[in-house]
Parts: sequence; C-alpha cells; structure tokens
Amino acid sequence: MARILTGIQSSGKPHLGNLLGAIIPAIQLSEVECNDSYFFIADLHSLTTIKDPEIRKANINSVAAAWIACGFDTEKNTFYRQSKVPEVCELAWILNCFSPFPMLANAHSFKDKTEKLSDVNAGLFVYPVLMAADILLYDAEIVPVGKDQKQHLEMTRDIGISFNKKFGDTFIIPEPQITSQIEIVPGTDGKKMSKSYKNTLDIFQSDKKLRKNIMSIQTDSLNLEAPKNPSTCNVFKLYELLGSEEEIQALRKSYLKGNYGYGNAKQELFELILRKFAKERKTYEELMSRPKLLEKMLSQGESKASKIAHSVLSRVKSKIGF
Ligand code: ADP
Ligand code: TRP
Repeated sequence: MARILTGIQSSGKPHLGNLLGAIIPAIQLSEVECNDSYFFIADLHSLTTIKDPEIRKANINSVAAAWIACGFDTEKNTFYRQSKVPEVCELAWILNCFSPFPMLANAHSFKDKTEKLSDVNAGLFVYPVLMAADILLYDAEIVPVGKDQKQHLEMTRDIGISFNKKFGDTFIIPEPQITSQIEIVPGTDGKKMSKSYKNTLDIFQSDKKLRKNIMSIQTDSLNLEAPKNPSTCNVFKLYELLGSEEEIQALRKSYLKGNYGYGNAKQELFELILRKFAKERKTYEELMSRPKLLEKMLSQGESKASKIAHSVLSRVKSKIGF
C-alpha cells in the first residue's frame, strides 16, 4: 500500500483543463485498490496571492465540490483543508530553520512570481518550505504533481534527507510522480486553457452560460459551405478530448464534407459536455447549495489528517529536543 498525497491550490473555480489535466487523473490514482490517498486544498498557499476573505471561501467550496463531484471518495480517502491542520505551520517553521537561504532564492517559481506579481511577500519565498511540511507531515510516499512542481519536490527531498542525516531517520522521503501532461487542454482562444488567460471553459455553470461560453471559442472565418480542417480547429480539439471514437469520426466527416458550420460543431460540443458531465454538474450544484454538507465532509477528513499530523510532529519535536 502506498500513501499518495497531493495539494490543490484554491485559486479559483476549476475549469475543464484542471479537470482533464489534474483532477480526473488524480482521482483515478486514488481508486487503485492499495493506495491510501491524502488530497488537500492548499488554502494557506493561496493566501500568498489571494487576500479577499469572501473569494477565499468561495474558492475553497468550489474546489472541494468539483473534486467530490468528479468522484473523489472522501470516505475511503482523506480530503482536508490545509489550514485546518495547523501542525503544518509549526513543522514549516521548524523546516524553515533547516532550509538554506540560497536554495529558496534559487526557486524558479519564486523568481517567476517576483517578475509577475506586484505583491512579493515573504510567504512566496518560503512557499516551498510549507509545501515540504505538507508532504513530510503525513509520511507521504508518492506525490503526483505537474512538471512545474518538480523543483519544489526536489527541495522537499533535500530538506528531509538532510534532517534525517542530522537527527536519524525521522521523515519518509517522498518520490515525485510527475504527471506527464498527455494533453494540454486548449482554451477558447486556442492557447493553453488557464485562469490567468481568461480563456477557460467552466463546465459547472448553467446550461445557458455554458452554451455562451462554448459559442465564444475562436475559429477561422470559412463560410458554411467550405470543407474545414478538423486538426487546426479549437472546437474539434476539445471535442476530441471528450468524445468517443465514433463521435469523433462522425464530427471529422462533417468537417471534411463541408456545408457544416462552426456553430453546428459548437452545438455538438455543448451537447457532448452536457451528456458527459451530467452527473458531475448535478452533484456540483447540489454541493454548492449545501455548504454544511461540504463542511461536514471536509471536517471528517480533517480529524483523520490531524491524528497523523500530531504524531509525526511529536516525532520531529522530540528529535530536536523540544
Ligand atoms: P491555471 O493555469 O488555470 O491557474 P493551475 O495552475 O491552478 O491552473 O493548475 C491546476 C492543475 O491543473 C495543475 O496540475 C495543472 O497542470 C492542471 N492544468 C491547468 N491547466 C491545464 C490545461 N490547460 N491542460 C491540462 N492541465 C491543466
Ligand atoms: N504548489 C502546488 C501547486 O501549485 C500545490 C501544493 C501545495 C502541493 N502543497 C503541496 C502539491 C504538496 C503537492 C504536495 O500546484
């Protein structure tokens, strides 16, 4: 049995790219019989950039609802808010005192954020140390993350290994599992779908808004009669990620034949999303209208997570003489 752990920042409402690139693959991993999964909402990490309390609450709920709606089993696994297990902050402080300044100053993501953000705060600088605490506090063995998090995982391993060298075996050293982004889901403008590009497809909105969202996908301006090239069309690329082999072939034929407009293709994509995500959309909506239920599901996870956090933190503190 392997303990899998990963964190999900609560930086906004999850979009189709998040679902196909991160949420659904992670849930599949958690369904492997012998895995014990710890998935958490990294709400303390998102405090580095999101300061508005109402936005924070809404984001946490929508991220939690999206994971559960996509099938994450919160009974079998452990699903929690990072901030509700405060031991992580105590461990992060301890680890700060064992993290060389040059290592943190060298982090790509810190350098990148320094260039892009106007609010460059100390939280951004020690972000990787809080991440190391997230992982080491739960004796995680495998950490699935995207390529952009690889360096953070290396820092976690370095911090854990050097602590173990000084004080004897204390931490389990985790292995990263870099999720090969098989597909980059394109956004409505054809660039990578991302909250920061404002080109997302939000599958959890009302039918009417979703249809409008899909109708805004950019295409070329060939007239209705002209045969069209499926491989250069954003609508087709999205359809290909979701449809069955038969559905994809049928749409390809319509493109090549001509007398088939992009409006028709968008309508097909809209109907496919409604069919494919019917259950998820319904559950998401139910959960968002029942914040108490969401709260209950998360707090169950939090009491499970607190037990192990408490025991690992005691192990660490006794090693360093507290
Ligand atoms: P965003 O770019 O919208 O801010 P995040 O950086 O919060 O998204 O990504 C959260 C997770 O979703 C990451 O694991 C990331 O790899 C995945 N992801 C985000 N956008 C896409 C996309 N367009 N295609 C595939 N995976 C994506
Ligand atoms: N930094 C990660 C991201 O932006 C989120 C995260 C926080 C995380 N703590 C973690 C991921 C621990 C894996 C393990 O995607």
